[in-house]
Amino acid sequence: DKSKKDAEKLAAAKEAVKFVRNHDVVGLGTGSTATFAIKELAERIKDGLEIKAAASSIKTEELAISFGIPILPLETLGTIDISIDGADEFTETLNLIKGGGGALFREKIIASLSKNAIIITDSSKKVNLLGAFTVPIEVIPLAYQYVFNKIEELGGKATLRVKESQKFITDNGNYIIDADFGLINEPAQLASQLNQIDGILAHGLFINLTAKIIMAKGDHILTFQ
Ligand code: A5P
Repeated sequence: DKSKKDAEKLAAAKEAVKFVRNHDVVGLGTGSTATFAIKELAERIKDGLEIKAAASSIKTEELAISFGIPILPLETLGTIDISIDGADEFTETLNLIKGGGGALFREKIIASLSKNAIIITDSSKKVNLLGAFTVPIEVIPLAYQYVFNKIEELGGKATLRVKESQKFITDNGNYIIDADFGLINEPAQLASQLNQIDGILAHGLFINLTAKIIMAKGDHILTFQ
């Protein structure tokens, strides 16, 4: 249930924030789990920690500013010391599905720039094979029918994400397609096939972008790296 999950998210967040060092540039994720980490960072800042941060979404940027965390513009950063983000699903081989909140593009840029990309999760996110959670794909609006066709050629079933009966619009002004490929045996192969489709800005398969996953399960912390 929710309170058990929240306790696990908080425990994973507290563990991850221990890895943040003074003067680090910290990438901040998006979603309910990342929010626990942002609050923990704010506590450490009150205790004297000095950091600057990069935000993976407008929502996270607003949250960070409300907690007094200084934000750097992402476009100016060539490297990020450490990032802390959530995930929708992960495997022990450190592959992820992200983008349930629609922030996958900036999340991917932050993970790619990060020297130490940490993912934090509750115990419900761990799977043997990715794909029960559909793969979020950010598409340039004018190409969405074309991308639908291409996803179907790859054996996927594409659905345009809607929110409050309107097309969901990302922070970058694009649409999200949620693509159901069934359980994904070869996520790296699917990721590279999606990378070749014009009109896709980014997809939610995160392959080789994670240094460490910190998962809380009950009172235990498990680390995959
Ligand atoms: C945001 O776009 C996603 O990648 C989130 O990281 C993911 O949806 C996890 O969100 P929760 O922490 O709220 O489960």
